[in-house]
Amino acid sequence: MPILTKAPRGTGDVLPGESSKIRFVESTMLETAECFGFKEIRTPGFEHTELFNRSVGDTTDIVQKEMYTFNDKGGRSVTLKPEGTAGAVRAFIEHGLFNEQMPVKLSYVTPAYRYEKPQSGRLREFHQFGVECFGAATPAADAEVISLGKQIFDFFGVKDLRLEINSIGCPECRKKYQDALKSYFSEKEDKLCGTCKGRLNRNPMRILDCKSPICSEIASHAPVILDYLCDECREHFELVQKYLNAMEIEFTVNPSIVRGLDYYTRTVFEFVTGSLGAQSAVCAGGRYDGLTEELGGNPTPACGFALGIERFMLLLQAENIELPPENPIDLYIASMSPEGNILAAKLASDIRNEGVTCLFDTVNRSLKAQMKFAGKTGALFTVVLGDDEIKAGKAKVKYMADGSETEIGLDDFAENFMQISIGKAVAEFDGGNDFDLSSFLGNM
Ligand code: HAM
Repeated sequence: MPILTKAPRGTGDVLPGESSKIRFVESTMLETAECFGFKEIRTPGFEHTELFNRSVGDTTDIVQKEMYTFNDKGGRSVTLKPEGTAGAVRAFIEHGLFNEQMPVKLSYVTPAYRYEKPQSGRLREFHQFGVECFGAATPAADAEVISLGKQIFDFFGVKDLRLEINSIGCPECRKKYQDALKSYFSEKEDKLCGTCKGRLNRNPMRILDCKSPICSEIASHAPVILDYLCDECREHFELVQKYLNAMEIEFTVNPSIVRGLDYYTRTVFEFVTGSLGAQSAVCAGGRYDGLTEELGGNPTPACGFALGIERFMLLLQAENIELPPENPIDLYIASMSPEGNILAAKLASDIRNEGVTCLFDTVNRSLKAQMKFAGKTGALFTVVLGDDEIKAGKAKVKYMADGSETEIGLDDFAENFMQISIGKAVAEFDGGNDFDLSSFLGNM
């Protein structure tokens, strides 16, 4: 039955081999954010539906078409989170994080769910690394958040990337802009898609974000927000650019960026690439000064971004950027008898306590098959526990790279093995010179 053996459309499995790469990418992003003072937050996978209606906005594509919304068994409407910001803001209010020193800086890696038409780089379940900075209204905060995004791309050596920024103003200047859009789109109302006809009076800016070819063609000639910014918003935007210039972060101003979520004010930005076809935005965000208040908190300026992990992985692949391979198996302990296998289990347990990756036989392979298996796993060292070794209380540990063997006592096996493996690692690092850990430690 295919339904049992096929993951739902738009979702995917991450198999061994790939998972260690994603773990490396995600932890690098969180650690880079930590250098900027961001601390990780984890919020639930689903929230009350109302949270997204109010934050993302009930005229957006996400809320109107893409949310996984259902009634739970208690009859409450809940929604799998389509993005990370709303939950972070809700948690910021719920836990009184506004009482802490501002700015409060939160980072996260989270799954997100949108019922979209799946294609490369566009999934129904995807993952976002994101940051949210609360309590800083200054252009410096916008620029700092953007520079974090840039630093992440630079760390991995991504080349095909442009930063595009825009300002979509505050509710004050937006009012005049909405009026201008309303009169522009009203003249073309009969050509707009059904959804956009509904948006015309409620939120004409959303028409700018419509994916239908006719609406986007009409939108491409619409008035631009930059012509309607109030003095404060214009000054804010100019200062953001000044900070970016000072940090030597290249950007272009793209007045057509409006973002697909309603909560933004002033600065919006996208890191876009030419390497991923239609799904060109890898990382996107902006300022959302009104959202915390909208959700019931005190007025709190905020800004942040989210970066799609799957798109990021595709981008690394497109640019042939290598990631560190999986950790190798350090040691394989082969055994030749039930007694030897019990000893192998004990030694493996001791040595794993030292943080060493160690395997022994749990499927009753012959010695020959065990050694073949050890070879396939790429184990760096092997040791065989035969009757003679058990009797003598000693065994030879073989370094597979050059076949060299060192005899060590089984009583202090873990300690002895650590000495050999560290010695080999340092010797390789040192250009092949022999290394004696005890004399090294003795000389310290
Ligand atoms: P967003 O632009 O909707 O913004 O999504 C951010 C990123 O998530 C996109 O640039 C993309 O890399 C990834 N993404 C979005 N949808 C999909 C999908 N269907 N499949 C794969 N990847 C996808 C937000 O979500 C805002 N919360 C960002 C933000 C944080 N703004 C302020 N703080």
